[in-house]
Amino acid sequence: MGGAGALLRPAAWVSSRSPARWFPRTPAKPVVALKTPIKVELVAGKTYRWCVCGRSKKQPFCDGSHFFQRTGLSPLKFKAQETRVVVLCTCKATQKPPYCDGTHRSERVQKAEVGAPL
Ligand code: FES
Repeated sequence: MGGAGALLRPAAWVSSRSPARWFPRTPAKPVVALKTPIKVELVAGKTYRWCVCGRSKKQPFCDGSHFFQRTGLSPLKFKAQETRVVVLCTCKATQKPPYCDGTHRSERVQKAEVGAPL
């Protein structure tokens, strides 16, 4: 039972390196990063990664926190079609990601704590 692999890889080593630990099956819930959107100028042709998890310190963009905090979430990658100023969501409750759709004004978001899931 266990085979030669068990001799080479002690159970503790296997579990600490298990892909399930780094990529949980049930993703964490996004948290409210801020309760107001952020205006940014997107540059035509440039690719952006919008923070989905709400844990990035570089809102509204990804800083890799989703990975290091093992959320199981991934940023939303998008390419700007034209250079223009847009309003990007930071409450993570928008129905039109990455853009703000006004959901942050709802009682649900306004009563939520920053850094907590909705
Ligand atoms: S900041 Fe999320 S909907 Fe406006």
